Amino acid sequence: MRAIRGAFLDFVDDPWRHVGNEQAAARFVSDGMLVVDDRGIIADFGPGDEVAARHPDAPVTRIPDRLILPGFVDGHIHVPQTRILGSYGEQLLPWLEKWVFPEERRYFDRDYAEAGVRRFFDTLLASGTTTCQAFTTAKPVTTEVVFEEAARRNVRIITGITAIDVNAPEWFTTTADEFVAASRLLIEKYHGVGRSAYAITPRFAYGASDALLAACGRLKAEYPDLWVHTHISENPSEIRGVLALHDDCTDYLGVYEKYGLVGPKFTGGHGVWLTDDEFRRLSAAGAAVTFCPCSNLFLGSGLFRLGRATDPDQRVRLTFGSDVGGGNRFSMLSVLEDAYKVGMLNNTLLDGSVDPSKKDAAEAERNRLSPYRAFYAITLGGAEALRLEDKVGSFDVGKEADFVVLDARGGPPAVTWRTDLAPGGGAPATLEEAAELLFAIMMVGDDRAVAETWVMGDRAYSRDTVGDAADS
Ligand code: GUN
Ligand code: ZN
Repeated sequence: MRAIRGAFLDFVDDPWRHVGNEQAAARFVSDGMLVVDDRGIIADFGPGDEVAARHPDAPVTRIPDRLILPGFVDGHIHVPQTRILGSYGEQLLPWLEKWVFPEERRYFDRDYAEAGVRRFFDTLLASGTTTCQAFTTAKPVTTEVVFEEAARRNVRIITGITAIDVNAPEWFTTTADEFVAASRLLIEKYHGVGRSAYAITPRFAYGASDALLAACGRLKAEYPDLWVHTHISENPSEIRGVLALHDDCTDYLGVYEKYGLVGPKFTGGHGVWLTDDEFRRLSAAGAAVTFCPCSNLFLGSGLFRLGRATDPDQRVRLTFGSDVGGGNRFSMLSVLEDAYKVGMLNNTLLDGSVDPSKKDAAEAERNRLSPYRAFYAITLGGAEALRLEDKVGSFDVGKEADFVVLDARGGPPAVTWRTDLAPGGGAPATLEEAAELLFAIMMVGDDRAVAETWVMGDRAYSRDTVGDAADS
């Protein structure tokens, strides 16, 4: 047993369910204690004095002047794009051809993959992210290296061979048969072992023949426990291409539905151009979408309709994702910053000032990314969307002790004076003060706000002692 003492904030419910009273979804303990057992599982949590009295022998690590949150969940990230974030000049399809395929090809070489994957996890942990759902490449070696390194870091990961068999150069593709054979080996070796889970991962419907999608469907039927991860409705040219390739389907989601892939463990990344009817079907299926605002802005894909996805009558489960390297930041704090701006941009239409017939006050309200909604989305909300809420996402007893230690003074020079303005300064005494501080951190701070990242009760990253291990 060991204990951590400090100010803790987490979520017990979805703030979008508490419009006007979002505090009801959050939990703040200004002087709290988290007790972790020898397996890295949370054994006790609550007010510091009470918890300390129950565990008089547990050694205590005190973390003063910080805000401790559950580790962040990144629902959509590409491991082999670690090096190409911020690559100039293209929208999705030409960007893939010009930047992504050549870089991912390098990961077919085990040595390059091992070096790149080490850097990936270094950067992930330095960003406060402790759970991710990730893409690899079409070749099994990359996926194997990712699983091995995730296990070494003890990071919770959902990943799988990222299959593509059409609309890419021949040197980049796989076949449905190769994909199935290689997937089986990796599923047997890694799925459910430690903190690893396997996702059947057709890259996107634009890069998948009927044969490949049918193979994915057969794998899902054979292993119903697996996750399914892909892209959906990201870019208008992509969508047109999908409907030309799968001309018996009337919309993008219909392609994945046709092959039995859409259900509770399905995630489609982006969903920028999903129709109301597709949102309705995703909601009914219990499936998830990942909102990737950094990427959607960087690649010019469009504005995700957050307020539509969170319609209480057809709420779609959401993860937020960096989509590195379509997204130009690893930090989920940067993802929140851009998510807030996308919501505000959506509202220039929904507030009726441009076109009164488009006015929708309720949807506009849901587009506003309050700090409650924001930090729920990258902790408990992400865990719920990935069906991992029994394992991560909050400080409930029995969950894995992943957490991030936020320093409100970490960031550009402007951040300190800004966060000092929040009531209580850097040391909030109430939930409302903590929420104000978190909003300042997400809008003005950056990954330098992450002072420490802990994985299953062990410190896996410390900003102040970081060395040059990443260059090894
Ligand atoms: N669609 C298919 N592949 C990709 C990718 O690597 N990044 C993004 N953003 N979209 C994709
Ligand atoms: Zn992506």
